[in-house]
Amino acid sequence: MFLVAFFQIIVLLTAINAEFSSRLLDSVLQDYAFRAFVRPRTGIPYDGNVPFNYTGIKVSALRLRSGSMRRRGVSKYKEFHIPIGVLEQPYVERLVLVYHNLANWSDLYYPLPGHIHLTPVLGILTYDASNLSSINLPELDIRPSKNPILINFSSIVKPVPMGLLPKCVYFNLDGAVEFDNILNGNVCKTTKQGHFSIVVEFTTAAEPEPEPEPASGGDRSGGRKNWVIFGSVVGGFVALIFLVLLIACLNKYDKKKKIDRMEEAADRGVPLLMTKIGNTKAPIASETRTRPSLENEYLP
Ligand SMILES: *[C@@H]1O[C@H](CO)[C@@H](O)[C@H](O)[C@H]1NC(C)=O
Ligand SMILES: *[C@@H]1O[C@H](CO)[C@@H](O)[C@H](O)[C@H]1NC(C)=O
Ligand SMILES: *[C@@H]1O[C@H](CO)[C@@H](O)[C@H](O)[C@H]1NC(C)=O
Ligand SMILES: *[C@@H]1O[C@H](CO)[C@@H](O)[C@H](O)[C@H]1NC(C)=O
Repeated sequence: MFLVAFFQIIVLLTAINAEFSSRLLDSVLQDYAFRAFVRPRTGIPYDGNVPFNYTGIKVSALRLRSGSMRRRGVSKYKEFHIPIGVLEQPYVERLVLVYHNLANWSDLYYPLPGHIHLTPVLGILTYDASNLSSINLPELDIRPSKNPILINFSSIVKPVPMGLLPKCVYFNLDGAVEFDNILNGNVCKTTKQGHFSIVVEFTTAAEPEPEPEPASGGDRSGGRKNWVIFGSVVGGFVALIFLVLLIACLNKYDKKKKIDRMEEAADRGVPLLMTKIGNTKAPIASETRTRPSLENEYLP
């Protein structure tokens, strides 16, 4: 009975964990940002729509010739400034810069214990532009060879709480977190793609003053303290058991997810419509998504 309840809670926790996987979100947002491209011109950002269950998140996509990015940069793409000399790896002829603004979803996908986000978490990720219908695309690597990429948070940063020092935070694609100093005027710099925000550390100075203990009833407050200690010991123990079970469960879940993903991929392989050309059969594209046209491409 107890065990069943335990496992239900654990299954729930795993579900939450899987639902708020930031890499899964990256993949969803890549798909929806690419869908914004209907006869895309290079060098112009297109805002995408997200599925209704991600309302609030903003995505955008900008297609560029890789040579143009290297020689000219992008002086302003939303809050990002891409300097001259950014190279991608592996080399592609055209690439897409996908922009994320996680808005009110920032804390859910990029929680940072002991810190508060003063800005929405913004992301920039680079993909190959050779097939704009692609899903589950891997990111390209980008590397500024001269100056770093800048992120100007000026227009979206919340006021800094008194006495606290704001910092730039960078979440790389593997989930690692790095801190950096803010440059003049709420600007952060980066030499890598990923997600960014400005945070302040929660110090004791920022927490409300503890309530003074009443002079009388010291006994009661002492009793309460003991209960708190007892509670946290028991709580800690239960949490530990949870954690061990959760890790075991996550491992299992991961394996299952992999299989699910393979099945999903298999399901997605929509059979191509066949048409006859002379004696041979050839696939024709379905009409569901407008194919990008290269006619109004401008050449740098
Ligand atoms: C949103 O809906 C899609 C299916 O339409 C589902 O795959 C995804 O997990 C959902 N995400 C959230 C956060 O509810
Ligand atoms: C963010 O705000 C939108 C409305 O603007 C709401 O639909 C959505 O549920 C919110 N997301 C979270 C995680 O609170
Ligand atoms: C583009 O990607 C889609 C989805 O992965 C695939 O169905 C299609 O065949 C690809 N097109 C080309 C020209 O590779
Ligand atoms: C950041 O953007 C603001 C306008 O939102 C602008 O006034 C400011 O000059 C910019 N800062 C830098 C360093 O580009």
